[in-house]
Amino acid sequence: MARYLVTGGAGFIGSHIVEACLRAGHEVFALDNLFFGRMENLAGFEDLPGRFEFMEGDILDEACLASAMEGCTGVFHEAALPSVPRSIEEPLASHRVNATGTLKVLLAAREVGAKVVYAGSSSAYGDTEELPKHEDMPVHPGSPYAADKLAGEQMTTVFAKVYGLETVVLRYFNVFGPRQRADSPYSGVIAKFCMNAMAGLSCRVDGDGKQSRDFTYVADVVRGNLLAMEADLASGSVLNLAGGSRYSLLDLLAGLEEILGTSIKVRHGAARTGDVRHSQASVKRIREQLGFVCQCSFQDGLRATVDWYRAIGSG
Ligand code: UD1
Repeated sequence: MARYLVTGGAGFIGSHIVEACLRAGHEVFALDNLFFGRMENLAGFEDLPGRFEFMEGDILDEACLASAMEGCTGVFHEAALPSVPRSIEEPLASHRVNATGTLKVLLAAREVGAKVVYAGSSSAYGDTEELPKHEDMPVHPGSPYAADKLAGEQMTTVFAKVYGLETVVLRYFNVFGPRQRADSPYSGVIAKFCMNAMAGLSCRVDGDGKQSRDFTYVADVVRGNLLAMEADLASGSVLNLAGGSRYSLLDLLAGLEEILGTSIKVRHGAARTGDVRHSQASVKRIREQLGFVCQCSFQDGLRATVDWYRAIGSG
């Protein structure tokens, strides 16, 4: 069995990766500073087949990273400071965690020779006319968040070239699902809309609501990560990880209305600075190289997400 480190292991995506690795019988070390991560996300993990360890700590703390990395054969690097608007307000904080933090994770991985699977972002493509967005397109980051996640991605591939580290970059496209936080002004749109609609509150639509995203359900993202860790890919690979479709915010509201069986109140605000109009992934490369296709439809993912917010009492 492998021993994996998951940075951001108590967070939304990280905790799902931890869970899947434990279910597969692997040893998992979860590292999280509990800034966004929550211990509730790890409830019951000691009872799963694999051996589980958790440490509260920061990826910016080199000693802590070195101890977390001990004996690891691979690291899923999920720790990040998300949100485009937050990065516009706090560019230095975004840079520290998303860029410098990634460099520190790479240095620690190099010490033990661990393979790195990096959580890249579709924001790297920026606001392009061309759809779907494929990995050979030039990058046009349009926010500090996008630039920092891209810096982390490029540093990851440089570590493959320069130090021979085994690395894979997975560019995520608007991941959603259970455990995504809905309680921050910077929360992702699906989390916010679910919480507000279920509470009978209005949903704020930035701009006309026709902007679209390749919303990807978290279970598919987890599967893509495990495949990428276990596959014998060319080191330094960059792959989009998404379903290859796109849905507008208006589609999202209609989907939620159908699931909740009620009409949702909407208020329109200004379009967001640094926003991308349309985002849709080309999934050709990941299908060819990993045999990966998303299995969860948007509507099924939305239903499972609503069920989870219901179960925890709206977030
Ligand atoms: C971006 C990245 C995504 C990354 C995420 C991290 C792109 C295309 N996607 O997501 O890969 O995981 O950052 O934070 O760059 N909106 C509303 N009302 C709200 C909240 C949001 O209308 O209450 C709108 C936003 O203006 C935007 C869309 O919904 O047009 C999606 O926003 P959000 O969920 O924050 O994600 P992105 O910024 O697209």
